[in-house]
Amino acid sequence: SRRLTVLALESSADDTCAAVVTSDRKILSNVVINQQAFLEEYGGIHPFVALHAHQRNMPGAVQRALREANITIGEVDGIAFTRGPGIPGCLSVCGNAARTLAAAVNKPLVGVHHMQAHALTPFLTSPADALPTFPFLTLLVSGGHTLLLLATSPTAFRILATSLDESIGNAFDKVAKLLQIPYSGRAPGAALERFCTSGPAVGDEDIPEIHMPRPMRGRLAFSYTGLHSTVERFLDARRGEIDERTKLGVARSFQKAAVGQLEDKLVLGMRECAQKGIRVRHLVVSGGVASNSFLRERLRACLDTESPDERVELVFPPPHLCTDNAAMIGWAAMDRFLAGDTDPYSIESRPKWSL
Ligand code: KG4
Ligand code: ZN
Repeated sequence: SRRLTVLALESSADDTCAAVVTSDRKILSNVVINQQAFLEEYGGIHPFVALHAHQRNMPGAVQRALREANITIGEVDGIAFTRGPGIPGCLSVCGNAARTLAAAVNKPLVGVHHMQAHALTPFLTSPADALPTFPFLTLLVSGGHTLLLLATSPTAFRILATSLDESIGNAFDKVAKLLQIPYSGRAPGAALERFCTSGPAVGDEDIPEIHMPRPMRGRLAFSYTGLHSTVERFLDARRGEIDERTKLGVARSFQKAAVGQLEDKLVLGMRECAQKGIRVRHLVVSGGVASNSFLRERLRACLDTESPDERVELVFPPPHLCTDNAAMIGWAAMDRFLAGDTDPYSIESRPKWSL
């Protein structure tokens, strides 16, 4: 079929994104303007601050995405945007921009499910001979989500496990903050990971191991509040005065427990699939936390133990496409553009939107 070029907009959380992608898997531009500075100040996503930053940044993001792709708005074949889920005000920025642009140039419009776009990213980024095959498992681990999904077709996803409280990314962020790990310029979770690799090797007797809870044991559900509050209580009991070794011990114990919970639920999910006769051959891991190297090692080991005879391939989209971006939104909309299955210009955002 005809090669399509799509402009896509995303602003569901803290990044303002615009990208141009084609139906033959080319990313012509991928602009991400993040608000790390604001996050550092508030210690989390502040909805109004994020909304205003999106409003300021979106026009420039669109202009840059088109310019870098060397294309005009009149030349694109369609406009895609994140319809949900996400922060209501934030979603309205990409929604309004996309609807208005599409109407102004009379182009088709498609509203995309953000998590579905994350899950489909490997079809845009993996080599053509190494694409995941359905059915596959997906772990979406980010600031907004902790999800284990079973994808049975490009449009059919089932949630096997989700977080009952906060996300794994949030827990990483909070613990990084509690431990006062400097994170200027990078994600707090990434700073915590880096801190864990500093100092004496793992297993060194001088580094204490801190006991962490193992929530929702035996159940297909995540819970991360218990981990960060354990760290909080540990620090409170010492009035925040701990030496560097103890600090390292806390950080490593937290990271091990946070990733350990992913391993536990992955095993449960794989067993449930096996029981139902579903043969899973790929695990796609995406979201900001997926760039964590410790997590990558542990998941590989976990799959090898759980499925020693039939290898389950681990698929990690490149880190810059694991985190929020508009290229994945354009790609997730492509089948619908190709099929002519598009949305009316009056389409509304869906802040709460299950898969
Ligand atoms: O997908 P993402 O960029 O966007 C949101 O969901 O907002 O995920 C961001 C999250 C943050 O919580 C960040 O601290 C975490 O991903 N993160 C990491 C690492 N890199 C980013 N967590 C642990 N280890 C990392 N290397
Ligand atoms: Zn996301």
